[in-house]
Amino acid sequence: MGRLLATISALVALIACSSAEGSAEQALLDWLEAGGGQVHFRVGRPCAACERGALASRAFAAGEELARIPVAASVVLRGGDSLAEAAFRLLDQLHSNASFRRAFAPFLAAMPAAGDVLAVEALPDGELAELQTPALERLARSKRREAQAVYSRHKQAAAWLSLPELQHMTSLVRTRSFAKLLGRRRLVPAFDMLNHHEDANARVADDGSAFLLLVATRPIAAGEELTLQYKAGVLHRPDASLLLYGFLPPAPESSATLLSAVDLPSFMAANPFKPSDATDDRSVPTAADSWAARLVMLGEYDRLSRALAAMPTSAEQDKALAEGAAGGTAEWRRRLLVQFRLHRKRALRAALARMEAAWAQLPALCGPPGGCAAHAGSLAVRPAVASSAPASPVEAALGLLPPALLTPLGSAVLWGWKVRQIGAAPLLAQPDILVPLVCGGAMLFMAKRGGLRMR
Ligand SMILES: *[C@@H]1O[C@H](CO)[C@@H](O)[C@H](O)[C@H]1NC(C)=O
Repeated sequence: MGRLLATISALVALIACSSAEGSAEQALLDWLEAGGGQVHFRVGRPCAACERGALASRAFAAGEELARIPVAASVVLRGGDSLAEAAFRLLDQLHSNASFRRAFAPFLAAMPAAGDVLAVEALPDGELAELQTPALERLARSKRREAQAVYSRHKQAAAWLSLPELQHMTSLVRTRSFAKLLGRRRLVPAFDMLNHHEDANARVADDGSAFLLLVATRPIAAGEELTLQYKAGVLHRPDASLLLYGFLPPAPESSATLLSAVDLPSFMAANPFKPSDATDDRSVPTAADSWAARLVMLGEYDRLSRALAAMPTSAEQDKALAEGAAGGTAEWRRRLLVQFRLHRKRALRAALARMEAAWAQLPALCGPPGGCAAHAGSLAVRPAVASSAPASPVEAALGLLPPALLTPLGSAVLWGWKVRQIGAAPLLAQPDILVPLVCGGAMLFMAKRGGLRMR
């Protein structure tokens, strides 16, 4: 799977016109057909500016077969949960088993080359820094370490193994394999040519015997792009799709300003890419009818504006880089990384703008405009307070609180909000949750001790 890049694009053009006898791509089709397989799509661009994808070769009704691939033509991957280990086992088979190598030669020859895919495992620190997103860079480095660890473990026994080769195969396994097909993780020829879509029009099935099937989930017009849902509710976040599959989600209006997973309040490094809403409506607090809700909004505003401020280049610089970068592998990869950070900046700015607009609708938090500016200084970069409506007693009281008290108070409110957002269990992994929790606990403990002594 994975976004169809240069290599595959060439491949599929061939499927379309089958004028490329002797090519790796034609060999793949011939091989599939010889095994009883059928492929009713070709590769091409659904529109001039679109990425390449699988295009239906005729109209299909819902439930109709789009392709059938012999189970024997799929490659079963072993190695448990570790993709790098699975990649090593595959390379090992290819190296040591001549009949395996012969059997799958047409499939493997049609796989993209290392220069045509973005392999997180192989990205050096310098390129990772282009993301301007430390949380994401850490995740990428941990994937790189995983591949390096597998390499170190096996290099003694497998002198033929090279790290770049393992990194490339690991990325192919991650982006193109199907996790649970007939009980196994598998690479499946032809199915791996379909792009991802949240609302896909194809799904994978099996006929209980010797074939894996690609089936239409709804009526499909001739020439329409066929898509699969790689992972439900995850890949609409640009950092998830980039890190897991090496592409950025196509940006329809709905996702053009969708926050990255790392910027969601529920983000956890231990489980970074979990399904999330299709919009940011629930993640960006804009309802602020109580003082507690306002503290949440201030806290989130503060957090997201700091994330934006920490990205060193301006959007204009990024745009120039993304447009100016010419061809070549390194350039192509760099452009993708720059496009990611552009998207992230746009999404952060949009989230901040929504909070500012919501804030402007509210009566002032602390009485007359500017009344509590001095106190709020430690809490947040405050959105401009527009209204001069009289403050409620709670708000007036809040305005009298010293900042030192306001910050733990804000943390506590944020904490309550996050409990509602993400549930209690995973909260302990988050420093902004853990710190107020530990401080609160310590204060309670001391208060209790003080009370005991007084008695
Ligand atoms: C070698 O590959 C063939 C063809 O896939 C397979 O049947 C056989 O089990 C493999 N041998 C070993 C030792 O893995």
